[in-house]
Amino acid sequence: MTAGGNPFPSTEMVQRRTGIAVRARLSANENEFGPPPEAVAAIVAAAGEANRYPDCDHHDLRAALAALHGVPAECLLVAAGIDGLLSAVHRTLLGPGRTLVTVAGTYPTMAYFAAAGGTTVRAVPYAGHRADPAALLAAAGTADVLYLVEPDNPTGTDLGREEVLRLADRLPGRTVLVVDGAYAEYQSERRRLRTADLRGRRVLWLRTFSKAYGLAGMRIGYAVGSPDLLAGLERGSEHYAAGRLASVAALAAVRAQARLAEVLRATAAGRERLRAELAGIGLAVLPGETNFVAVRCPGGATQAERLRAALAEQGVLVRRPDAPGVDDLLRITVGPPAQVDLVLALLAGELAGSGRS
Ligand SMILES: Cc1ncc(COP(=O)(O)O)c(C=O)c1O
Repeated sequence: MTAGGNPFPSTEMVQRRTGIAVRARLSANENEFGPPPEAVAAIVAAAGEANRYPDCDHHDLRAALAALHGVPAECLLVAAGIDGLLSAVHRTLLGPGRTLVTVAGTYPTMAYFAAAGGTTVRAVPYAGHRADPAALLAAAGTADVLYLVEPDNPTGTDLGREEVLRLADRLPGRTVLVVDGAYAEYQSERRRLRTADLRGRRVLWLRTFSKAYGLAGMRIGYAVGSPDLLAGLERGSEHYAAGRLASVAALAAVRAQARLAEVLRATAAGRERLRAELAGIGLAVLPGETNFVAVRCPGGATQAERLRAALAEQGVLVRRPDAPGVDDLLRITVGPPAQVDLVLALLAGELAGSGRS
């Protein structure tokens, strides 16, 4: 943990703190299938230009994304990952005297910036490990931003396109709906928001290259929204935060759609196997289409923490969210078969050894 209280220690920080070598980091929902080879080649090819600042307009990447999503390039803003975009949302739409509505226990970075910046935060509990649209709407009042993670992290559950749009259409006029789509690629097309849905709505859809595209270390993502919402966001953005190598890597990844499809197939296969086998050893598996599986431990937060710690001692990191309402969950990133085997064997061993308590 850094002096500033970063809630997400890196693998290196964990190893330095515990002295235990990490065998598998299944606690950060990185892409365990690796970066696209096409992106690696693009990084190598561009490395000799590392002395140059990036094209801060990310013209080529935005053109490729515009073609992929069927939107004009003016509807896209590239930044240093979703976290970078959340920071810009905070700088431009929140702050003292402004209000954020979020789900209590969801991905915490938006609320983390809001707390540091003097924003009023209204955190609405999940209803059965799923965001509660009626309660969010009731809390929205005069809120400036409603932040929704869809599909959600850490639960993996989603509302689905129709419910998200119903929510968007009932929000008060001044409220911007910020949809964090970090896991959108994993969601089935039927349930996923569409870029056409954003037209005429006060919705920002945040996307990343960190998950399905396998480029978390590059720090690059983008926002999709109306040009006027994006112009506001850009005023609070750090223009050169997404670097030159990140930009070329992301462009190569967008062009390598066959690789993305392969990762999505392998992830879904691993997820369904993990889900079936975790249920078989007595854990209550939550539904979801992401690159992780969330399970409820029948013994509650105490058991979840015991299991997390036992695996960590053996060099396998899984996440136990510590917010009330989700602290009985273990969240496990889906990787290739050998990693699934490893985490299943360790969990089965722990549960058998403790009589499932
Ligand atoms: C819901 C959610 N949003 C954002 C992020 C961070 O995304 P990025 O790497 O693009 O900053 C994560 C990473 O775990 C996430 O789970």
